Amino acid sequence: MNLYNSIFQRKSSRKYVMQPLPQQLLIDMENSIKGFEQLYPNLPLEYRFAKKTKGMFSAKAPHFLIISGQGRPGELESAGFLFQQLVLWMDAKEIGSVWLGSAKDTESSGSKKDIITLAFGQSTEEVHRVKNSFNRKPITEITNSPDDACIQAAHLAPSGMNTQPWYFEKTSDNVLLYQRNLKPPLSLIYKLADLDMGIALCHYALACKEIDKPFSFTRTTDNVAKSGFNPFGVID
Ligand SMILES: Cc1cc2nc3c(=O)[nH]c(=O)nc-3n(C[C@H](O)[C@H](O)[C@H](O)COP(=O)(O)O)c2cc1C
Repeated sequence: MNLYNSIFQRKSSRKYVMQPLPQQLLIDMENSIKGFEQLYPNLPLEYRFAKKTKGMFSAKAPHFLIISGQGRPGELESAGFLFQQLVLWMDAKEIGSVWLGSAKDTESSGSKKDIITLAFGQSTEEVHRVKNSFNRKPITEITNSPDDACIQAAHLAPSGMNTQPWYFEKTSDNVLLYQRNLKPPLSLIYKLADLDMGIALCHYALACKEIDKPFSFTRTTDNVAKSGFNPFGVID
């Protein structure tokens, strides 16, 4: 399945048919998750399905997937990277989905370190859109290299509250990745910016694969300082 094409047409779905998806589709979904690329292969994540969630800004959906870790560094971007592939997989199968930052499981004991929730199902609305109807910052605000195909794919990545916190700075031998400092009050309430970075890296990596370009990411804070941003990593 070509996940890259879905980058240019997906959108969040918030209205669903409440009928569950066929069981076989959920099995296919789990098999696909096993085959997706991981940002940090040695940092395993877990997920479980739920029928209900609670919390603000939630959506009424027939299915939820709750992603959890163990509280280790890197889990947020790793979750964004891995499960954005699932979002694109669902888009390609005409299944709607939306990331939910504050939806909480109503059923579990709460012992897991839950990171994020994805709501999904058959949408009552169109699940695709055309490329020029994405609501995104001008690409020149997120890079010094707007003609780069991988950065163009990252530009369309979804993010919590559409903050788009990434900046891709192309140098002569690599791409330095920065995370924009959020301003108060957003900085006080929004804690998922690392997950957003993982989603953007997922789009970037899929575009690299599409054009046969190698992709390798290293998390580091050693990048040259950039006003208004925190160094996040290096893409080689
Ligand atoms: C980490 C994260 C958390 C999000 N949390 C919510 C949420 O709680 N409720 C919601 O309706 N949308 C949520 N979204 C969806 C964003 O609002 C949406 O992706 C963004 O506005 C861009 O729109 P698009 O997905 O249609 O491209 C979240 C997205 C991300 C990546």
